[in-house]
Amino acid sequence: MKDVIIACDFSSAAQVLEFLDRFSQCERKPFVKIGMELFYAAGPQIVRDIKSRGHRIFLDLKLHDIPNTVRKTMKVLSNLDVDMTNVHAAGTVEMMKAALEGLTREDGTRPLLIAVTQLTSTSEERMKEDLLIDKPIAEVIAHYAANARKAGLDGVVCSPLEASIVKKSCGDGFMAVTPGIRFADAAADDQVRITTPLRAREIGSDFIVVGRPITAAADPVAAYQRCIDEFVYGKENC
Ligand code: C5P
Repeated sequence: MKDVIIACDFSSAAQVLEFLDRFSQCERKPFVKIGMELFYAAGPQIVRDIKSRGHRIFLDLKLHDIPNTVRKTMKVLSNLDVDMTNVHAAGTVEMMKAALEGLTREDGTRPLLIAVTQLTSTSEERMKEDLLIDKPIAEVIAHYAANARKAGLDGVVCSPLEASIVKKSCGDGFMAVTPGIRFADAAADDQVRITTPLRAREIGSDFIVVGRPITAAADPVAAYQRCIDEFVYGKENC
């Protein structure tokens, strides 16, 4: 089932709760992404507070450390009742396996676990010059996705433009969660590998992650609805 995740990149609990209040009349309870900014500012309690309002939660902390540290951190996070969380695929297959192990509760249940391939703000040029990765970005994404699959993860975070590459190398059931979404008539901000909600649907994303196009909109509920119409229902030019 396709869905839209709102990236709630706020710096306090009060701001995010006030923002989410605007959606109280919405038929659909938005799936919410809590990233580093909010988590570090408000602590784990904000996860419980948003969850208790009935939202599904993607905890986007992008862990990247030695396998032992990631395993133990994931064990702690598994106590927070989130629906999805993530690591950097650059941490290696061993680190991703450790993350999965740590996240899996004693009864065998766990949130979805996905891996960041390359950040959607990174261009092929920056990858080559800053990171010394001298391969086409599509090849890097396909390889990182295959590593995530090998480690037993559920999917990857990638640009919507790369969702089809991921599906091709890892199969249709392997999830593509895609930030880097902008409306056709809007600015790119610092994102590089971007497309519209409608095009992301066509290319094969399972979830789109949308921040500023919703959070900074004059009418966030209308912007969210536009994302739903384009991405979930395939309506053009809403
Ligand atoms: O405001 P905007 O729509 O650009 O927000 C995108 C969100 O997705 C941010 O919270 C950012 O941290 C996150 N993200 C990303 N690219 C990735 C992984 C996560 O933009 N590869």
